Amino acid sequence: MLDKGLMAKDLPLAVTWKDGELFLLDQTQLPLTTVVEKQETAEQVWESIRLLKVRGAPAIGLAGAYGLCVALKEAQNDPLSDFMALMEKQAAYLDSSRPTAVNLGWALRRMVKTAKEANATTSKELYDILVAEAVAIHEEDARLCYTVGEVGLPLIKEGMGILTHCNAGSLAASHMGTATSPMYLAHSQGMKFRVYADETRPLLQGARLTAWELQQAGIDVTLITDNMAAHIMSQGLIDMVIVGTDRVAANGDVANKIGTLGVAILAKHYGIPFYVALPSSTIDHDMPSGEGIPIEEREDYEVTSFGARQTAPEGVKVRNPAFDVTPNELVAGLITEKGIVRAPYTENLKALFGQD
Ligand code: MRU
Repeated sequence: MLDKGLMAKDLPLAVTWKDGELFLLDQTQLPLTTVVEKQETAEQVWESIRLLKVRGAPAIGLAGAYGLCVALKEAQNDPLSDFMALMEKQAAYLDSSRPTAVNLGWALRRMVKTAKEANATTSKELYDILVAEAVAIHEEDARLCYTVGEVGLPLIKEGMGILTHCNAGSLAASHMGTATSPMYLAHSQGMKFRVYADETRPLLQGARLTAWELQQAGIDVTLITDNMAAHIMSQGLIDMVIVGTDRVAANGDVANKIGTLGVAILAKHYGIPFYVALPSSTIDHDMPSGEGIPIEEREDYEVTSFGARQTAPEGVKVRNPAFDVTPNELVAGLITEKGIVRAPYTENLKALFGQD
């Protein structure tokens, strides 16, 4: 019998709401230093999301929802109309911190909708309703992550090699993560398997975060640089790929960390199934295909340096898209809380999740 509470306790928490305050684990300092920062203002939360102190689609959704509460805390004695106006302004502001992951806008829209439908008579009452909604989103995400793990668990077989890219782990969501959730469950059942974690240039989420959290959990994890994936696959060491996603379009196209598309193409070449794990909050039913998904472009220095050290000539032209889109035909299945969705994606996603 799996103990949900026990599993969750052992894993690092990216986002914590405690005694009316928001705390974020500063992931830019991992794996060397574990620093938890209290969030005092909307500007601080915006910057924590922008700088990737908190990152990963579900986790930035949670940070956004709680961030809205942080932004409104001091306005609890304001007239209700002022409180509502501020809420809409701060929700739009927080949503502007990063464009690709749909969970951020999804969580903020849900918060605003809940407030508008609440018929509250005071700002204080509305503030409490918003806090309760943020907590509900958080608890829901934890449940969805766990269920994604249960759905994905049968895909993992004894002795398997699994490749993952970026970090779709506990640090990117609630408790179990998404891509890692089936791995944590398989591990808790005593199953032996190997995980290969792509380093994930330029910001090294695979090396700094995935390798760290899987190692802490006692899972057999091997770190490789991104350009080693083809070789490792060619050696027959990979039986399956599981990654997370920032947004799944209605036709099943998948936006995820830059480099994911390359992994999917390699997997196809070597006949390795490429799976994507996600809670349904990551599906954008209003986005017909991956073509329209906004791809975040980040600062040049992330590419021209390695840590503090400059590794490219001064003034060189740089591109730094943070995400790419994997077309649905490269996806073996979407591991969701309601089951594994396979092609044809448009029909099957609609049948399972309908439209909001
Ligand atoms: O730039 P990041 O670190 O926020 O990118 C994160 C990813 O691409 C994850 O794979 C994705 O958000 C899924 S997290 C469950």
